Amino acid sequence: MYKKKRLGVNIDHVATVRNARGEMYPSPLRAALLAEKCGADSITIHLREDRRHIKDNDLKEIKKRLKIPLNLEMAATKEMLKISLKFKPSFVCIVPEKRAEITTEGGLNLSFNPKFLSKIIKNLKKNGTRVSLFIEPIKKDISKAKDLGADCVELHTGKFCNNFNKNKNYKKDYEKIKKAAVYANELKLEVHAGHGLNFKSTKILTKIKNIEEFNIGHFIVGESIFGGFPKIIKRFIKIINKK
Ligand code: PXP
Repeated sequence: MYKKKRLGVNIDHVATVRNARGEMYPSPLRAALLAEKCGADSITIHLREDRRHIKDNDLKEIKKRLKIPLNLEMAATKEMLKISLKFKPSFVCIVPEKRAEITTEGGLNLSFNPKFLSKIIKNLKKNGTRVSLFIEPIKKDISKAKDLGADCVELHTGKFCNNFNKNKNYKKDYEKIKKAAVYANELKLEVHAGHGLNFKSTKILTKIKNIEEFNIGHFIVGESIFGGFPKIIKRFIKIINKK
């Protein structure tokens, strides 16, 4: 039976544009509600330790008004655990975070403090939140994600996208993602994909039936300058569900 693929719209960079001028616009809340209206399946926001884009008040307002699931990306820290337990987002995706990075570089290191990671996962799940781990498409990490108690894995598509955009040998990266997705499903982990995706790279990854959810942000916000937010979101929904 065909299972509809879900689109999570990441609106971090609506906040980046707002913060660049220290203004009140464009509003991430307005973007979240518009994406919801356009058929997005969930909204993703990353509350970073340095609050460089999404701020605590954005999380509060979006959580209050959004009807579709909110996916909170967060680092595995005590502060973020406290915030997510308070706001109870439907989904949490645990991501690595380095202060100096421009964006999330690489997947989580699951060997670093696994006891704390599994404690976070357990607490979030007990609080009714679905937990996903953002990892490299590597078998060893998928097995570890399962052992840590995650519900889902989000496979980092950055390397595949970089090579695809440069027309380098991206087929090996595609095969790596495919193998990882199949293996994760065998372990009964739900599979998501994200980072660096555009129309073309997303279209290729939709061939992997095991991927149920795509989380896309930077390209949607950037391309919206030319096509408008609703049009770009609707085009992605069509791409990921074309049979
Ligand atoms: N998924 C995860 C876990 C991420 O950290 C990010 C970037 O914040 C994305 C998806 C979206 O990536 P992009 O903005 O490049 O589409």
